[in-house]
Amino acid sequence: MTDVSLGMPQLPAPDYPADVRARLEADAKEIIARYPGSRSALLPMLHLVQSEEGYVTPTGLRFCAEMLDLTTAEVTAVATFYTMYRRKPSGDYQVGVCTNTLCAVMGGDAIFEALQEHLGVGNDETTEDGKVTLEHIECNAACDFAPVVMVNWEFFDNQTPESARKLVDDLRAGREVRPTRGAPLCTFKETARILAGFPDERPGAVEASGSAGPASLAGLRLAKGEKGGPKVVSPRGGEAPASAGQPVTETGEAPDPHPSSHDAPRRTAASDPDNPAGPVAKEGK
Ligand code: FES
Repeated sequence: MTDVSLGMPQLPAPDYPADVRARLEADAKEIIARYPGSRSALLPMLHLVQSEEGYVTPTGLRFCAEMLDLTTAEVTAVATFYTMYRRKPSGDYQVGVCTNTLCAVMGGDAIFEALQEHLGVGNDETTEDGKVTLEHIECNAACDFAPVVMVNWEFFDNQTPESARKLVDDLRAGREVRPTRGAPLCTFKETARILAGFPDERPGAVEASGSAGPASLAGLRLAKGEKGGPKVVSPRGGEAPASAGQPVTETGEAPDPHPSSHDAPRRTAASDPDNPAGPVAKEGK
């Protein structure tokens, strides 16, 4: 019999071997102690069981339910909601190609097609050597580096079909691969353990985490009224407001509170009689 929601054998599932169970219980108690209510620990607990077997197995679901005093249905509901929890065995490297709108038009769709052909696998499938799982991913807020590929949630910015093919070749051959920014790469299971909240002990990982690239920092510079802001486009054509995007601090003027005039019109229909809201009455009608 099959559990339709998971596509896996129905619970009850076999338990972990005794030594594995004892190790996971110690880890689980550490995670649960971080929260005022044990059920709040479910998300990191799911990462913990994922770090053990590479995906959330029926055994892992049952373990989470027992440790958190939840039903397996409750745990399953959460595990099937979030895409970061895998429900079938996956490769050491989960290669996600962002095919959300901006990345797609910047080349994400072409990269995904190139990798499908190069690896001989489709979406959510794993290469025969068990190294790479290919998948579509949604926007990861790195649009300023589009098109983006993520390997185990580390960023590879401004990719092309050619660079992406080389990336997966290097991963499969065991050659060292470094993300464009952020922490060094590790396997999917190791990543899952870090996401469960355990210390990232890889050399250089702490220093590298939280770094932002120049394209992201351009917006921060603009917000501070510093030089180097992006070109501003007037929302309704014509001249952009004189203050928009300019380094106003050099003249001693107060920074424009809304320097990014291309984000939204400066005047709304309510304050702009030339552009009233709703249908405009035609002359003579
Ligand atoms: S659309 Fe790809 S990171 Fe935002």
